[in-house]
Amino acid sequence: MSMRARHGFPETFLWGTATSSHQVEGKNENNDWWDWEQQPGAVENGHRSGNACGWWDGRWKGDLDRAAETHQNAHRLSVEWSRVEPAPGQWDEDAISYYREILKGVRQRGLRPMVTLHHFTNPGWLAQQRGWNQASVIPSFARYVRKVVKALGDQVALWVTINEPNVYAYASHAAGVIPPGRQSLQAALQVMLHMVQAHAAAYEIIHQLQPAAQVGLAHHYRGMKPSSPMNPLDRLMTSLRDDTFNQAIPRALQTGVLSFPWKRVPVPEAQDTQDFFGLNYYTREKVVFDVGHYSELFGRGYYPEGADVSSTGFIANVPEGFFDALDWARQFDLPIYVTENGVEDPEDELRRRYIAQHIKELWRATNFNWQIKGYFHWTLVDNFEWDRGWTQRFGLWELDPESQERRKRPSADLYAEICRENALSTDMVKRYAPEVFGELFPEDPPGELTGRSTGV
Ligand code: BGC
Repeated sequence: MSMRARHGFPETFLWGTATSSHQVEGKNENNDWWDWEQQPGAVENGHRSGNACGWWDGRWKGDLDRAAETHQNAHRLSVEWSRVEPAPGQWDEDAISYYREILKGVRQRGLRPMVTLHHFTNPGWLAQQRGWNQASVIPSFARYVRKVVKALGDQVALWVTINEPNVYAYASHAAGVIPPGRQSLQAALQVMLHMVQAHAAAYEIIHQLQPAAQVGLAHHYRGMKPSSPMNPLDRLMTSLRDDTFNQAIPRALQTGVLSFPWKRVPVPEAQDTQDFFGLNYYTREKVVFDVGHYSELFGRGYYPEGADVSSTGFIANVPEGFFDALDWARQFDLPIYVTENGVEDPEDELRRRYIAQHIKELWRATNFNWQIKGYFHWTLVDNFEWDRGWTQRFGLWELDPESQERRKRPSADLYAEICRENALSTDMVKRYAPEVFGELFPEDPPGELTGRSTGV
């Protein structure tokens, strides 16, 4: 057969995994999520985060050893606001020191840290003050950011202010599936505005304290295509959802105007407040007009028949949607980090080809000389998957939350080889995902290829 081919990446490319505090630390008793989990029916199967992956008990050490031993050179993690500031204006210096120790541990292992300041959870006291629905959250967030950056800035050069404000606002205030469980589109849009303002405040503070820092936000981009491209209602709903969910926030951070199809809100302080573009991409869906879906702007997303979906149906494997997402993100003219990408798959069958196919698309994008700087796979070890509890397994390592035992999945070895070689090669794909070998390394020139496999 053919010679060994490799799709190589730029020399300084960052390869890592991403985690978040509440999902891995355990015993996060002081935040809104902990309270939420205690309510019957709030989380699938009544699951709770409990000890999570035991990071607050020191298990981060073993997990970061795993990351480093498998040739990763970066790690994205988050700081838990409720630990740092257990009561308004009161700081827990021990918790801050522990984060310092973790960050030193990250760096000692040769991993470059990227730190997220808000990843879905809020201190209980903030939730009691109506959380992100109140404008007073902005100075509170700013105070917390100042404290953290002063304390940890010498360990971190890459900051993510807020993880997925669009997902957070939607899930917490429109769909009501995460705390505080509201169902008001109006409130969700208000939360988005406050998050844009809070991001802008954080951007300014971080740069005051640490002029050389790189600051961004992790933006969730969900690919969307009209269910039937000829149907004007499907097209309209797709663009309405796309404008609101995908476009509004990143545009606000570029232009200083938070703009929805029906309304424009000036936020001048947010203009040009990103040094890099953090992109979270998981999947792409089709959108059909559905009058019953008010909170989703009368559109309903679904995966078409024949899509390559994960075992619980949560994520469809649509690698070309990743390429499109990167293509979309480059309009902001910023260096891009893929801050999350991954799939839930306890059996680790789909994940191997998902990784190979998505890394191929990433490589394609770097070959257009788009400024893509790194990739963080979601995630290192199975962790607490929010409203889906422990039912969904995103880890390169499998975790038994009871015994805390870890077991390496084959995908961890595939990813290790990619990180080590800074490339995706024919051997790797042959060994880990032979079913997509012909697609990833076609022998025929591209013009003769006949379409792709997923149809999403
Ligand atoms: C979130 C993660 C989550 C992942 C998988 C992302 O939207 O940032 O916290 O675990 O998706 O659902």
